[in-house]
Amino acid sequence: MARLVLGVAGGIAAYKAVALCSTLVQRGDDVDVVMTDGAQRFIGALTFAALTHRPVLTSLWDAPETIPHIALARSAEAMLLVPATANVIAKLALGIADDLLLNIALATRRPIVIAPAMNAAMYDHPATQGHLRTLAERGVAIVAPETGFLAEREVGVGRLAAPEAILAALDAVLGRTSSLRGQRVLVTAGPTREPIDPVRFLSNASTGTMGIEIAREAHARGARVDLVLGPTLVAPPPGVRCVRVTTAQEMFDAAIALAPGADVAIATAAVSDFRPVVAHAHKVKKDAAPASLELERTPDILATLGERKLVKFLVGFAAETRDLEAYALEKLRSKQLDAIAVNDVSVEGTGFGTGENTLVVLARDGTRTDLGRAPKAELAIRFWDALARARVASTEAPL
Ligand SMILES: Cc1cc2nc3c(=O)[nH]c(=O)nc-3n(C[C@H](O)[C@H](O)[C@H](O)COP(=O)(O)O)c2cc1C
Repeated sequence: MARLVLGVAGGIAAYKAVALCSTLVQRGDDVDVVMTDGAQRFIGALTFAALTHRPVLTSLWDAPETIPHIALARSAEAMLLVPATANVIAKLALGIADDLLLNIALATRRPIVIAPAMNAAMYDHPATQGHLRTLAERGVAIVAPETGFLAEREVGVGRLAAPEAILAALDAVLGRTSSLRGQRVLVTAGPTREPIDPVRFLSNASTGTMGIEIAREAHARGARVDLVLGPTLVAPPPGVRCVRVTTAQEMFDAAIALAPGADVAIATAAVSDFRPVVAHAHKVKKDAAPASLELERTPDILATLGERKLVKFLVGFAAETRDLEAYALEKLRSKQLDAIAVNDVSVEGTGFGTGENTLVVLARDGTRTDLGRAPKAELAIRFWDALARARVASTEAPL
């Protein structure tokens, strides 16, 4: 049971905030609903007042003697913004405070969870994406919208996340899910770059997002998280200790150094298997370029972690385009993993550089858990749930 502020902004999905509010009340949370002027055009304050048995707050100016924005900012244990419009997201990122909801968001020192919902073009706009990155860097928990049918009668990203995902994010910030408390988790993520010369390299399309979300969720569940992150523009989650690396060798060195004593290691990084034998010190001129590039194997991080038994539970990732599970099972055995997560990077709209993924977790004891297709943040939640079961099965030691 928690004291919450539920901020509702002016988007079509405002009606879904009603069902969410009802769920919060049913679980015993005390909810103060704050609506923007825009929100009141979509849905009546009366509905929320009836559900919460409390007045709905809509204006900064109604009861100045109580200084409502400061009172609410202090009393609430967390603030939820559902739906978060493009407008509210931009204003939050810039620190604009021209209504009650934005004043509370600026004044609170408690966690904020936002669930964006809008037209796909508005969501994809660099301004919105930039503001979301700013908010994520400040520690705001963002529940990514889903891809689906939008009010504009088209399919795209921008539909409000499922209530379970919003509640899971809320529970995570409230520290209700503490299944990894006291544990140390090591995550590798992102691509590596293998230099040919100072301006050219071999790499791949990974952005590290899946691993970053897995690190974020492990932190939310109370773990101490070390993230070894290859070159990417995606920001590491707040609260996670991040070591930035560039080459496979650097990733190997960092991961092997951090592994001893870790309870779980999740190797999501798309490590280059090969590197040029020669990395030229100066840029190779066009007319001096060799006709072929001689390559050598890079050190195998996962196999080394497995061989040396450096961590208690080792999980690999396999990104494949065919015969997924057969390849993955072979990798599970040959690298002595405890579990492996498989994603089909050939499915349109999922995998490298996209907001969504499909994942299947195969454990050493033969269990197979299909996590389905979902935004990567949501998959990270399902991933840790699946892993908790696999770890119990493998060690009989409950988390
Ligand atoms: C029919 C209609 C639907 C809208 N749906 C959304 C939406 O889903 N998401 C969004 O960000 N803005 C949406 N807007 C635009 C916002 O209502 C507008 O930006 C408004 O200024 C938001 O105010 P607020 O953020 O203070 O609530 C919609 C506007 C209309 C007229």
